[in-house]
Amino acid sequence: MENHGKYWMVMIMLMSMTALVLTRTSLQEDAKWLLQVKHDFEDPLKVLDNWSNETSICEWNGIFCCPDEFRIISLNLSGSSLSGKISPALANLQYLQILDLSSNYLNGTIPSFLGNLSNLSELLLYSNKLSGTIPKEIGLLKKLEVLRAGDNMLSGTIPEEISKCTELRTLGGFIPAELGHCKHLEIFSAAGNNLEGTIPPALSNLSMLQTLNLANNRLSGHIPPEFGRLQRLNYLNLLGNHLDGKIPREFSQLWQLQILDLSRNQFSGIIPETLNKLQKIQYLVLSENSFVGPIPNNLCARSITLQHLFLGGNNLSGTIPEGLSHCSNLQQLDLSDNALNGSIPSNLDSLRNLYVLLLHNNSLTGNVPPAVGNLSRLETLSLYHNLLTGAIPP
Ligand SMILES: *[C@@H]1O[C@H](CO)[C@@H](O)[C@H](O)[C@H]1NC(C)=O
Ligand SMILES: *[C@@H]1O[C@H](CO)[C@@H](O)[C@H](O)[C@H]1NC(C)=O
Ligand SMILES: *[C@@H]1O[C@H](CO)[C@@H](O)[C@H](O)[C@H]1NC(C)=O
Ligand SMILES: *[C@@H]1O[C@H](CO)[C@@H](O)[C@H](O)[C@H]1NC(C)=O
Ligand SMILES: *[C@@H]1O[C@H](CO)[C@@H](O)[C@H](O)[C@H]1NC(C)=O
Ligand SMILES: *[C@@H]1O[C@H](CO)[C@@H](O)[C@H](O)[C@H]1NC(C)=O
Ligand SMILES: *[C@@H]1O[C@H](CO)[C@@H](O)[C@H](O)[C@H]1NC(C)=O
Ligand SMILES: *[C@@H]1O[C@H](CO)[C@@H](O)[C@H](O)[C@H]1NC(C)=O
Ligand SMILES: *[C@@H]1O[C@H](CO)[C@@H](O)[C@H](O)[C@H]1NC(C)=O
Ligand SMILES: *[C@@H]1O[C@H](CO)[C@@H](O)[C@H](O)[C@H]1NC(C)=O
Ligand SMILES: *[C@@H]1O[C@H](CO)[C@@H](O)[C@H](O)[C@H]1NC(C)=O
Repeated sequence: MENHGKYWMVMIMLMSMTALVLTRTSLQEDAKWLLQVKHDFEDPLKVLDNWSNETSICEWNGIFCCPDEFRIISLNLSGSSLSGKISPALANLQYLQILDLSSNYLNGTIPSFLGNLSNLSELLLYSNKLSGTIPKEIGLLKKLEVLRAGDNMLSGTIPEEISKCTELRTLGGFIPAELGHCKHLEIFSAAGNNLEGTIPPALSNLSMLQTLNLANNRLSGHIPPEFGRLQRLNYLNLLGNHLDGKIPREFSQLWQLQILDLSRNQFSGIIPETLNKLQKIQYLVLSENSFVGPIPNNLCARSITLQHLFLGGNNLSGTIPEGLSHCSNLQQLDLSDNALNGSIPSNLDSLRNLYVLLLHNNSLTGNVPPAVGNLSRLETLSLYHNLLTGAIPP
């Protein structure tokens, strides 16, 4: 009996020693690869100084080990001023679930071997100087939920393989029509890249899409009218592209939209009166386009959610509509650099929350109404380059 007891004890000791040895070797192995990763980075802020043999790998800066400490599961060196390339050695960190190298100065390409990290659920590479294409091997990452690669110098298209993204929820990069297959995609954010070409109508199949941010790219062509099907869209930002054509009539169906920014494009045509069907709209930004015709009088006839209305730098004509006075939550109103005439409506003083009022560079006439002096929150008032007479009220 006693002997059996001893036997078990030895077994248990042996087993725990095995476990210990396993832990040590796997972590030692990870350490070896990570020191190679370190070697491929330039590290002016010395954020990787404590990546050394002297300390336990789980205490290294940016490393997070799983509780049993067998392997590292997260590597986060976001915003560390690192330059250099993404080391191939990373491919050996098989347990990695999160890799965040965003907001550095990394250059070179996105390595295809990242496709070997089969446990990866978040891959964040945005805001670097990476070039080349997104490798198709990334599509092998079946658990990937978040991929952000925006604000780099990437080119080409999103590989078809990524569009098989059953679990992919967030994506940054480029726009292939295949993206329309990502039925669960909620956020598509690829601002500030060199995206070119048109916006594929297939994106309108992303019925879960809530955020679409393609700002500051080089996209051209029209907004697909099919976008009216994006029933969950609450944020649409296309600012700073080369898009043209009219605001599709179908936009009036985007009833969840809170933020719409189409500024700094070449959109033309009139501002549709049906935009007033956007009953949750808070930001309506159409500045610096070629819109013509009058400002709709009824923008706040159905809903008074509008807080920021930017229509400056177009070719809008006619008078400032009295109906704007219904927009009682309006905080910023920019109608500058247009061809508006007539006088400033005296009922503007019902816009109690207004703190910015920009009307400069139009053809407005008459007196500045005393009501403007009643806007107690007003911080910025700009009226120059008009034909106004009289003094600015106190
Ligand atoms: C770290 O340890 C390994 C072996 O465990 C050794 O080969 C290597 O030279 C050491 N590196 C440093 C910087 O001490
Ligand atoms: C390594 O650096 C990080 C960040 O500066 C720090 O949180 C961590 O405690 C350091 N580890 C050791 C062992 O000094
Ligand atoms: C990485 O660390 C930064 C702070 O240093 C944090 O803001 C960011 O959310 C982290 N990334 C992930 C994926 O947790
Ligand atoms: C992924 O992680 C699980 C545990 O979460 C592990 O069992 C599996 O071996 C890992 N896959 C790879 C390829 O390392
Ligand atoms: C990456 O940047 C380094 C300097 O930090 C430079 O020496 C190297 O040539 C660059 N590589 C590429 C592919 O641009
Ligand atoms: C990545 O996986 C491929 C095949 O799946 C394999 O041939 C290659 O050796 C792996 N690379 C690394 C660095 O593990
Ligand atoms: C949207 O998906 C349907 C089937 O799910 C497909 O027939 C249609 O072509 C897709 N539309 C676009 C514009 O890709
Ligand atoms: C503005 O629109 C008018 C017609 O309403 C047109 O005659 C004029 O050329 C346009 N100006 C610019 C700068 O587009
Ligand atoms: C006035 O607005 C027009 C049309 O937007 C613009 O072309 C012009 O440069 C502006 N003039 C000044 C002085 O700002
Ligand atoms: C404003 O300009 C239009 C032409 O664009 C003109 O028909 C209208 O009479 C003008 N209104 C006022 C009040 O000057
Ligand atoms: C300013 O507001 C006060 C109180 O709401 C009102 O009595 C007064 O007539 C207003 N003045 C002008 C010039 O609109």
